[in-house]
Amino acid sequence: MRSKPREGLSKQNFEMAGEERGKRVMQKMRIPFGTIAITEYSKKLIGEILDSERVSSGKYVRKFEEKFAKLIDAQEAVSVSSGTDADALALAVLYDYGAKRGDEIIVPALSFVATGNAVLQAGFKPIFVDVERHTLNIDVSRIEKAITKQTRAIMPVHLMGKPAEMDTINDIAKKHKLFVIEDAAEAYGAVYRGKNIGTLGDMAAFSLYVAHMITTVEGGMVVTDKADFAEVLRSLRAHGRACKCESCILNINSGYCDKRFKYGKDKDKDIRFVFERIGFSSKMNELEAAIGLGNIEIYYKILEKRRNNLLYMLDKFKEFEPYLYTIKEEAHEKIGPHAFPIVLGEKNKFSRDDLVSYLEENGVDTRNLFLSMPTQCPGFEYLGYKLGQFPNAEYIGNNGLHIGIHQDMGEKELDYILNVVSDFCAKYKL
Ligand SMILES: Cc1ncc(COP(=O)(O)O)c(C=O)c1O
Repeated sequence: MRSKPREGLSKQNFEMAGEERGKRVMQKMRIPFGTIAITEYSKKLIGEILDSERVSSGKYVRKFEEKFAKLIDAQEAVSVSSGTDADALALAVLYDYGAKRGDEIIVPALSFVATGNAVLQAGFKPIFVDVERHTLNIDVSRIEKAITKQTRAIMPVHLMGKPAEMDTINDIAKKHKLFVIEDAAEAYGAVYRGKNIGTLGDMAAFSLYVAHMITTVEGGMVVTDKADFAEVLRSLRAHGRACKCESCILNINSGYCDKRFKYGKDKDKDIRFVFERIGFSSKMNELEAAIGLGNIEIYYKILEKRRNNLLYMLDKFKEFEPYLYTIKEEAHEKIGPHAFPIVLGEKNKFSRDDLVSYLEENGVDTRNLFLSMPTQCPGFEYLGYKLGQFPNAEYIGNNGLHIGIHQDMGEKELDYILNVVSDFCAKYKL
């Protein structure tokens, strides 16, 4: 195990570490999990929007959607209120394509709880499949056993930006005539066999929450290449309204719409007050879109910075094996630099919470690496799963954490974290 200081830490700081080891590692830094960029461009747009008093979904939301679709390389992007809604609305589209309420959706047992919640909120039954310990993603060898006559879709999650095994997932889906919806909430910038994550299934759901690489503070986006799915999504986010053409739903034309009173058999109903499907109230507003537009302008800079941080940490962290491990980037992929996962190896002398406390005491913000939704989240107990059914998800639920690698960090901060981890290991004589 390493005992030397890293470059980037000043000599003075390291000497302090030597003197004060056990009490304090070194001059403390505060390293938040994420930061938010609200650009000058966003501020200018926000001012204009407030002055115009047209703040509900309108031309800036549409512009943001268009830019987002281009960035992912998808034909359509439909904005919603959160990443959870992006998952739920994408699933709810399936009711227009033969799915029935109560049908089954296959999801990994380990994810942020939003994935499971969204399946239930959309009116489906989640069928959980265990994950792999080293990729953190759904174990594709277990998917076919979970398929029944009621299965309608597979929803893989690219956890921590590590692409799920999409070729196998798509082959299984094709064989069993299932839809594939990617939960890409954490996978901005991820690439799988040359294709962007978000373009590999029928639809993909992104989160625009603050710590994510593109943010609108709160928000989500569904992308798809299918115009008819996008149309249903626009209806779903507006209460299931029949009126769903782009200009009306976005309030762009304030004038008279000649389709308005021509709905139905007799072509005499007001289309804005016909609700064709069970909908959601999940629209993005102009102020949120303005923040998103600013973020899109600096997206490639953010991506580059975060990728550098991720690659640096992936390389340096090998030194902590087998006590601690992380994910690996394989030749066929690029990991989206969302955050940095850490999992304890087996037979450790310390617990995840020992490490978390030490990191937090030393100013490093941490998050647990989620939980096995069916067996470690009390809200899912009613589904009847029993602890022990998802050993890998449960292991990560007990032994995993993640920390930031965001754009406002650089080698200095990363070296600081590595030194804190190193000092922690030294305490246990590893
Ligand atoms: C894998 C995953 N799915 C869904 C979501 C939900 O996103 P939101 O918090 O925007 O609702 C998140 C949140 O980050 C997530 O990590």
